[in-house]
This record gives sequence, C-alpha cells and structure tokens, in this order.
Amino acid sequence: MKIENIKVCAFDAYGTCFDINSAAEKMAKDIGENWLAFSTTWRTTQLEYTWLRSLMKKHVNFWKITEDSLKFAMENHNINPKFKNQLLDLYKKLNAYPELRDCLIKLKNKNIKTCILSNGTPDLLHQLVTNSNTKDLFDDLISIEKVGVYKPDPKVYALVTDQYNCKPNEVCFMSSNTWDVVGGGVFGYQSVWVDRFNKVFDQLDFMPKFRIKNLSELDKII
Ligand code: LAC
Repeated sequence: MKIENIKVCAFDAYGTCFDINSAAEKMAKDIGENWLAFSTTWRTTQLEYTWLRSLMKKHVNFWKITEDSLKFAMENHNINPKFKNQLLDLYKKLNAYPELRDCLIKLKNKNIKTCILSNGTPDLLHQLVTNSNTKDLFDDLISIEKVGVYKPDPKVYALVTDQYNCKPNEVCFMSSNTWDVVGGGVFGYQSVWVDRFNKVFDQLDFMPKFRIKNLSELDKII
C-alpha cells in the first residue's frame, strides 16, 4: 500500500528525527546504570508539562519546559544537580537518527516538500538541524511557538496546511509519538507511525494506516 497525492512530508522532531535519550546516554558514566529510566522520566514529565500548560493556558516555551522537567527528573532519580547544565547542553545537540539525511534526500528527489512540525522553539529546531547537517534538506522548521499552544491542539497541525496552502490529507506526517500520530491523523493528515521500539499503540479512536520501523522505510510507501 502506498500513500498517494502527498504535497508535503512533515516530521515530528523529538523521538522521530532526533534521539531524545542521547543526552542522558552520553552522560551514562556520571548518571549511573539507571540513565535510561532517568531519561524516560525526563521525557514523560516534559510531555506532561506541555499538556498541563496547554490546558491551564499558561504557556511557556519548550526550553523552559525542558529545564523544569529536567529538575523534576533529577530530583526524582537523585542525580547530582551539578550535571544539569551539561545535560541541557547535550539536549540542544541531540543525535539525529542515522537514516534521517538519506530519507530527506529521497523525498527531495521526488519533489516533495519537507518540514519539521515540533513543540521545539525555532532556535532549538535550528540548532538540531544545523548540528545534524540536515538544514539544507528541510524547506521549513515549523514551531508551535507560532500558535502558543502545544501538540495535539488542532491549531498546531493547521500550521502545516496553512504554510503550504494544502488540504490535511495532502500532508504525510511522521511521528514516533503515538499520541502525536493520533493528533495529526484526527486533524486529517495521512499519519505514519515510526514505531522504533515496538510499542503498543494508543486507544484514542484513531489507528494509522501506515507503520514503519524507522525513516528509511518511508521510501517504500511514498
Ligand atoms: C515534538 C515532540 C512532541 O517534537 O516530540 O513536537
């Protein structure tokens, strides 16, 4: 089965293009053997804070949320506060997944527009693509800062259709975050689940038609 009539491929950033655990992993020696559990708490709390702040209508940007959730995770896992700044610096330079650049080149060869659609601030997204040498392959870096509310608010997904003056079903959206796949799918995108870690999909009344293991498999369905 192929995805037809696509004008733009939009990518979630954190977890989909960039490895969110790579910051803690690089400091595994300092953090200790529970670095992955700590990293998971950091990420889960970070996402919870995006949803809570959106519901409370008390927006702060994703960098503040990343700092706040890091403080919570460090306290929770008894990690020495002296590592905080190093972890934050590494979060600005998360590793890109190795297949990202090649995947984008293939889409460019097919004349498909490419963008990031992310909770990250414009500055954070700029740093991530610069550091991973993929800046030239994205047409746009679209940040939720334009609407001041986090995913999965429909206003966020409308940023892509507004940018490219297209219909939701002309957008192919890749995310490894199941709830984000749902958010895009409910908006009308053709959502693709990048199931890197063999997870269970959410029960939110939307199931994606497409599931790939990593971004190199996108070539098979587009
Ligand atoms: C993002 C988060 C949800 O990049 O991964 O928007």
